[in-house]
Amino acid sequence: MTTPTIILIGFMGAGKTLVGQTLAQKRDVGFFDVDHEIEKAANKTIPNIFSEDGEAAFRDIETQVLQQAVRFPGIVATGGGSVDRPENVAILKQSGATIIYLYGPLEDTIKRLLPEKQRPLLNQKSTLAFFELWQKRDPLYRSVADYVVEIVDKPAATIVNEIINTI
Ligand code: S3P
Repeated sequence: MTTPTIILIGFMGAGKTLVGQTLAQKRDVGFFDVDHEIEKAANKTIPNIFSEDGEAAFRDIETQVLQQAVRFPGIVATGGGSVDRPENVAILKQSGATIIYLYGPLEDTIKRLLPEKQRPLLNQKSTLAFFELWQKRDPLYRSVADYVVEIVDKPAATIVNEIINTI
């Protein structure tokens, strides 16, 4: 029997990587981190891809990596912008994978991200642009998700148990 693909989507800071790693361990399957694979493909960090090559170049690599990710037999953590391009939305919708949206409301997302300096989009965007980005993405995440799991005030282990009980 082949291992089904489970894809975690959601905004920056939703804990996709930690939840994905924990879920993969618990199910004893592999873990594929899209951001990490993008860095490997470009041979530089995400902040450097953004600053040296620009966001469009980053998104091009993201689309290529997403195409590999949807075929990965195990758990996949995506980057927050995985739904920004209509072609990516199509890749996710057609993947046949189980897609889980790790959802936190906007206020909670902002609280989580305020101490962060590592994400290039956070440094570049004004608060208003950040608001708009969240509002644009939330319905897109929902449009591709099979399940929505609330993350507010929950440790990764709790979220993982909820995912296992839900799917
Ligand atoms: C991005 C989210 C980041 C990373 C890149 C762009 C975004 O991933 O892919 O900085 O557009 O929201 P995380 O969601 O893992 O932070």
